Amino acid sequence: MSVIEAQNISFSDNGKEIINNISFKVEEKDYISIVGPSGSGKSTVLKLIAHLISPDQGTLYFKGKEFTKYSPYDLRKNVSYCFQTPKLFGNTVMDNINFPFSIRHKNIDLNRVNTLLNTFGFDNSILDKSIVNLSGGEKQRIALIRNLIFKPDVLLLDEVTSALDNDNTLIVEKVIKKLNKEGITILWVTHNVEQSLRNANKIMTIEYGKIKSLEVLK
Ligand SMILES: Nc1ncnc2c1ncn2[C@@H]1O[C@H](COP(=O)(O)OP(=O)(O)O)[C@@H](O)[C@H]1O
Ligand SMILES: [Mg+2]
Repeated sequence: MSVIEAQNISFSDNGKEIINNISFKVEEKDYISIVGPSGSGKSTVLKLIAHLISPDQGTLYFKGKEFTKYSPYDLRKNVSYCFQTPKLFGNTVMDNINFPFSIRHKNIDLNRVNTLLNTFGFDNSILDKSIVNLSGGEKQRIALIRNLIFKPDVLLLDEVTSALDNDNTLIVEKVIKKLNKEGITILWVTHNVEQSLRNANKIMTIEYGKIKSLEVLK
C-alpha cells in the first residue's frame, strides 16, 4: 500500500489553474526530490499532501484511506510540512519547541530537545533567545526541530536549506537521510540538483502544474 496516493488532483485559485489533473504514488521509505521551475506548483503539491489546502477535484489517500476520513489533526501529526519561509510564533525559541508537546498535552522532554538542538548545531542557551533575534538559517533549523520532536510518517520539506550555508545544509541533509533510513518517507522540494542526486531514490519534475516525470534513481 502506498503511503500517499494522489488520483487526478486539480487545484485552482480565483479561476487560475495551479495544479492540473495530477496522479502519483509515494511508497513507504521513498525519498523523493521535487524539482521544477519557480511557480510550477511544487509548494502547492506539498500543501495539498499536508492537507493545508484541499483539491477542487480528485482524491488523496494516506495509507489507503481517503484524507477526508481522517481528522485534520491526525493527518497533520503524521504528515508534517516544513515551510519554505518558516513561521515561528510566540516570543522565544522555547515557545516554539514546547508547542509540539503542549498540543499533545505532554510535558517537554528535555533530553529529546537537547539531542535535536545538538544535532542541528545549537546548545540549549538558544531556548531563551527571542525569535526576532534569530537569523533566517537559525529560524529554519528551529522550525525543522519543531517538526521532528515527534517523528512524522511523512516529512515534506519545502526548500528548507535555501537560507542555510553549506555546512548547515550538509547537517540537515545528513539528519534527513538518517530519518529516511529509520523509515520516514521524505518529499523534498529543492533547487539543489546535487543534493537530489546524492540522496533521493526518485526525482519528480513538476512543470506548469503537471508532473512532467517521476524518475527512479536507485
Ligand atoms: N493560494 C494561492 N492563490 C493564488 N495563487 C497561488 C496560490 N498558491 C499558489 N499560487 C500561484 O500558483 C503557482 C504555483 O505556485 P507554487 O506552488 O508556490 O510554485 P512553486 O513552489 O513551484 O514555485 C504560482 O503562479 C503562484 O503564484
Ligand atoms: Mg515553492
